[in-house]
Amino acid sequence: MKTIAVLASGGDSPGMNACIRAVVRGGAHRGLETFGVRDGYLGLLAGDFTPLHRHDVSNIIQRGGVILGASRCPEFVTPEGRAKGAAVLRAAGIDGLIALGGDGTLRGAEALAAEQGVPVVLVPGTIDNDVPGTDFTIGFDTAVNTAVEAVDRLRDTAEATERVFFVEVMGRESGTLALHAGLAAGADAILVPELRTDIDELVGLLNRAILRRSRSLIVVIAEGDCAGGAFTIAEQVHDQIKRDYRVTVLGHIQRGGTPTARDRVLATRLGIAATQALIDGKGNHIVGEIDGAIRATPFDELGADKRLPSLALLELLPELV
Ligand code: F6P
Repeated sequence: MKTIAVLASGGDSPGMNACIRAVVRGGAHRGLETFGVRDGYLGLLAGDFTPLHRHDVSNIIQRGGVILGASRCPEFVTPEGRAKGAAVLRAAGIDGLIALGGDGTLRGAEALAAEQGVPVVLVPGTIDNDVPGTDFTIGFDTAVNTAVEAVDRLRDTAEATERVFFVEVMGRESGTLALHAGLAAGADAILVPELRTDIDELVGLLNRAILRRSRSLIVVIAEGDCAGGAFTIAEQVHDQIKRDYRVTVLGHIQRGGTPTARDRVLATRLGIAATQALIDGKGNHIVGEIDGAIRATPFDELGADKRLPSLALLELLPELV
């Protein structure tokens, strides 16, 4: 293992730059030469590589987004696309790949390693925190804090104007971001795709809170909730409660911004671990943080399922409203 490449695929997440910095510097420390791949698997197929030296990754640890660019690449979902990707890497003299991303990136990395024998290490980076093989993904902590800050602001105006706010947070099919943000912001209800949403129950909960004279009410809704997004749910609920309401969709605001210290530290540890994993011949592993320790887990031990949120957290909610 002499020359490696690093890419970010799927949705970017805050902390990916800190991870690229750690890959480049951790790699150099171990005698590796590193190339950055622009725009994820798309750039890989196009052979869009650029050498990265220590000084190229100065002053990026604090930056959101991802300096290399990221993309979703339908061609890489096909075996033919991956065969082309492997050929491009070999032609460029690249011995191993570090891929940053979420569940989709993981599935691409797994297949590239299994079908083409390309050594690939996956570093989990997504605000959704739904990747198996790690307790936390890079970007999740920042996104939770961004969502909490937004809900705190909405709480101020909701309290002043005596309104219900239906707040939609990201997370694709996962409710983990909604759950953590909702708990931390003291939401009155949290709706996640992993649990069936009962509209009558929600109406009952809101009406009881209105009877108790709660001035502000916050319902945090994961975008993938089975009952629909925030607009759909508000539409089903509003004429059964005697309260003015507003809907806020936080959207991509949760994806950008300066990474938290926690995400920077996680990204740094995982980036360095990924370079070591390639050197150790673990070119079909994910590196993750499990119970506070950094571990490399073989792809074939991960199974096909996404990581689920801690429903034990959700069980706390009835005690808190
Ligand atoms: O996977 C990260 C994520 O931000 C999800 O939470 C969200 O559903 C999705 O990406 C949005 O994707 P895009 O940026 O392609 O619209």
